[in-house]
Amino acid sequence: MFQKPPKKSMSITLKTPEEIEKMRVAGRLAAEVLHMIQTHVREGIATEELDRICHDYIVDVQQAIPAPLNYRGFPKSICTSLNHVVCHGIPGPKKLKKGDVLNIDITVIKDGYHGDTSRMFQVGTPPVAAQRVSRVAYECLCIGIEMVRPGIRLGDIGHAIQRHAEAQHCSVVREYCGHGIGREFHEEPQVLHYGDPGTGVELVPGMIFTIEPMINAGKRHVKLLPDGWTVITKDHSVSAQWEHTVLVTETGHEVLTPHPGDPL
Ligand code: MF3
Ligand code: CO
Ligand code: CO
Repeated sequence: MFQKPPKKSMSITLKTPEEIEKMRVAGRLAAEVLHMIQTHVREGIATEELDRICHDYIVDVQQAIPAPLNYRGFPKSICTSLNHVVCHGIPGPKKLKKGDVLNIDITVIKDGYHGDTSRMFQVGTPPVAAQRVSRVAYECLCIGIEMVRPGIRLGDIGHAIQRHAEAQHCSVVREYCGHGIGREFHEEPQVLHYGDPGTGVELVPGMIFTIEPMINAGKRHVKLLPDGWTVITKDHSVSAQWEHTVLVTETGHEVLTPHPGDPL
């Protein structure tokens, strides 16, 4: 979810069947952490407690590595982005309260490969605008995933996501994007959630990347806080994000991070 992918991966790596199987395992583990944590996402819990529970589960139960920890200096094992936080929220002492919406973003490394997924949670009944932007962000993710197949271009996907968000009077964050993923956390290509049809990389079987639209209820502009990580909406409007890791197959796509009990 960075503007510039790391220098060492300057091209799109196509995954072999053996690598794809490892990516399935990593993806499933990341999704299972989101499933495990859901019962803990309640009024009164601090986001740093959610971080500790996830960290211990990933390390002790899954015998995997929480990818965010020490990644470019990130201090925690998960990202927790609350209300007007767009992404990369750092878990801390702040406690969840009724009416909050929270994105939890989980990335695990297992056997050298990454799985990356996030979803929104609601605490009590959030304001209508917050519920709405959470739903629109989910719809944007689904629209993007359904388009993934050989021959389509990334610009087609970005365009469809942008069109849906804007038709719903929401906006698409431009500064952060989806990304190729594999041995590296962030590989090429960049997967923009806006764009023009018929442009960008053409998909071929064996590509694996994330789709992770960040959708704001207000204007699209964002601001980076002085901690160097937390991204918020400039107008303080509520923001939402959902993320899956997706494989391009011969006939279409496979979601590698299926959420248990979810259609995706
Ligand atoms: N998981 C985020 C993504 O979807 C990246 C988080 S980087 C961190 O790309 F350092 F903030 F953890
Ligand atoms: Co990602
Ligand atoms: Co993520």
